[in-house]
Amino acid sequence: MSTVLITGASSGIGAALAHRYAARGHRVIVVARREERLRALQQAIEAEGGSVRAITADLSNEAECQRVLDAVASETIDVLINNAGRGNYASVEDTSTEQWRSIFALNVDAPFFLIRGLLPGMKQRGVGHIVNVSSTAGRMGFPYNAAYVAAKHAVVGLTAGLRAELIDTNVHATVVCPAGVITEWADVTEGGSINELYATAIPRSRTIAAERGVGLAPLQRMMPADTAAEIIMKAVDAGRNNDIFTHPGTETLAAQAVSDRIGLEDAHLALWLAMRETYDRR
Ligand SMILES: NC(=O)c1ccc[n+]([C@@H]2O[C@H](COP(=O)([O-])OP(=O)(O)OC[C@H]3O[C@@H](n4cnc5c(N)ncnc54)[C@H](OP(=O)(O)O)[C@@H]3O)[C@@H](O)[C@H]2O)c1
Repeated sequence: MSTVLITGASSGIGAALAHRYAARGHRVIVVARREERLRALQQAIEAEGGSVRAITADLSNEAECQRVLDAVASETIDVLINNAGRGNYASVEDTSTEQWRSIFALNVDAPFFLIRGLLPGMKQRGVGHIVNVSSTAGRMGFPYNAAYVAAKHAVVGLTAGLRAELIDTNVHATVVCPAGVITEWADVTEGGSINELYATAIPRSRTIAAERGVGLAPLQRMMPADTAAEIIMKAVDAGRNNDIFTHPGTETLAAQAVSDRIGLEDAHLALWLAMRETYDRR
């Protein structure tokens, strides 16, 4: 039985991963801030005969990350899934210093602190897998959450640098880039609900597209958290692998963001103009 440490497991993709790994007979260590949610998750997993340990922590704080590392010092962590993450909702000029730092603290700093703490043990044992949950926003831009876009790009960079150091070892690093997953994420973005921005802008973008004679933005179908969890687990099972895009078509968009920026922006014109209108009307 291997042990999987999952951050951000009190809801969404992290909770789905915890249920699935526990059902497969792995010991799971789950971390998040909401104690009641973690307790309910623990009870549900234990009721199904699973092995689970819950640690309540605010990972946007370095001392709290260290407290988690101290708490798991006697455990053998085989898989670390840096899944805890939070988005923001603000234009670049409206993003406060506090919001910028808090988005980086959780999405970038916390994975770095946990990896730095757990990597020596994995290397010593010659086995381990680090999974960093980034986003398609880690490979291309979206408006009105540049702090999140920048942070998720940093997660991709952290994983790339780490992977280069792990060459020819049995410790692997994978970055996962989901698109829309049905979770609480889009409603709890800092600065307001980015879900509401999309809910208003998507219908409006149809009118703009018709008026301008341009196409509709390529939007991905929303995916259940459990499906995203299944895809992530397959990536871990595969061991050494490429970056994972959970939604069909997003890998092409990520490539287009590098090779054909104008094509990418033109394809999103109607949606991003509609988002600008909606944002400016707030
Ligand atoms: N949903 C999407 O469409 C989507 C798309 C691309 C990427 N992602 C990424 O997928 C990952 C999982 O998100 P999700 O969609 O499952 O959203 P979610 O349901 O909101 O889950 C986020 C998790 O992170 C935890 N978290 C938030 N702030 C924390 C903090 N300061 N310290 C510790 N834990 C914290 C939350 O728990 P507490 O509130 O209890 O702390 C929760 O368990 C995130 O990294 C997200 O950026 C999501």
